[in-house]
Amino acid sequence: MKRLACIVGARPNFMKIAPILRAFRNYEDVQPVLIHTGQHYDQALSDIFFQELQIPHPDISLAIGSGSHAQQTANILVAIERLLIEKLDAGLGFDRMVVVGDVNSTLAATLAAAKLRVPVAHVEAGLRSFDRAMPEEINRLVTDALSDLWLCSEPTGVQHLIAEGKPKSSIHLVGNVMIDTLLSQLDVARSRDTLKHYDVIPGNYNVVTLHRPSNVDSKLALSELTDVLIRSARTLPIVFPVHPRTRLKLNEFELLSKLESDRNIRLTNPLGYHDFLCLTSQAKVIVTDSGGLQEESTALGIPCLTMRENTERPITVEMGTSTLIGNDAEMLDYYLQQVICDKYKQGKCPEFWDGKAALRIVHLVAECT
Ligand code: UD1
Repeated sequence: MKRLACIVGARPNFMKIAPILRAFRNYEDVQPVLIHTGQHYDQALSDIFFQELQIPHPDISLAIGSGSHAQQTANILVAIERLLIEKLDAGLGFDRMVVVGDVNSTLAATLAAAKLRVPVAHVEAGLRSFDRAMPEEINRLVTDALSDLWLCSEPTGVQHLIAEGKPKSSIHLVGNVMIDTLLSQLDVARSRDTLKHYDVIPGNYNVVTLHRPSNVDSKLALSELTDVLIRSARTLPIVFPVHPRTRLKLNEFELLSKLESDRNIRLTNPLGYHDFLCLTSQAKVIVTDSGGLQEESTALGIPCLTMRENTERPITVEMGTSTLIGNDAEMLDYYLQQVICDKYKQGKCPEFWDGKAALRIVHLVAECT
């Protein structure tokens, strides 16, 4: 029996691991062990995804919680190392680790595994923004440096890994596993009455999410964004599920009540997968700084105005529906108008974003373990 340590920690990991665990059910000689670091621990950021996506209860929960980057990463590193050694001593050592994405849990788990010579498969490998001001870029670089099987969601991932000198035979373009989840959940999601709940009509509202430090930690950037959103909401109402760090900053900069009191803006707590997909899949436009949402909007064919200077997912701009706006309020205004007048570009869905990425991933992981 091949034992796999499958790591999740934060919200964007859950929709990636769900189809992978499901696909492993067809492999009798593979035993995936689900380890949740607890980087995200709230019902709204964690538990609801397990329920809605029918992810099995974690075999092991480390309950690490929040902290500075160093604290969080170090706590996960220590806990995973302890766990790997305990399992090894009990004769239940892992034959491989599977990590997804680019969060602190991905990096810390990979580092612990690499030092104990447990091979690591990285799902969503090779993505690069070339912007080391983003914590996720550091996480991606280190995770890929220490992995030995690289599973890529878009062709630039393959190109970057080859340029970094990784062996071609271990780099595979498998497609986008998050889109497996999106396609499998779309019907269930759209059958919900979320639009009615937020009093918006299909094709006539904007879904906003913001949580990157570059947008929400600066008072100037966040107040400019708030102003442009309030202005644009007069023509297109906004549904804005607010990430905990964003709520904290809006409050600190005294912007929260301004948004809350605007009748064209519906602020909510972070939403579950189904409610959120129900909203995004029927929106006129999405304004976001999320990596995953750039990809989901491309798969859905919904215009996405990305509040970032760069992206590690360039296919969503070159082929998909995303445009990079930075935190330029004027440019946001301009593109919102383009969308409202139906002058915005049409996108196409990239190769292998077809709902079958998990099948390709588990095949390669089983073969290489
Ligand atoms: C993390 C990921 C980011 C991902 C995002 C999705 C890293 C470096 N960042 O960022 O790539 O896009 O998740 O949400 O790993 N908090 C809660 N409840 C929770 C968890 C966090 O209230 O369950 C609050 C805490 O105040 C915490 C803050 O949110 O300090 C930030 O959480 P953290 O996991 O450090 O980073 P995210 O900004 O969520």
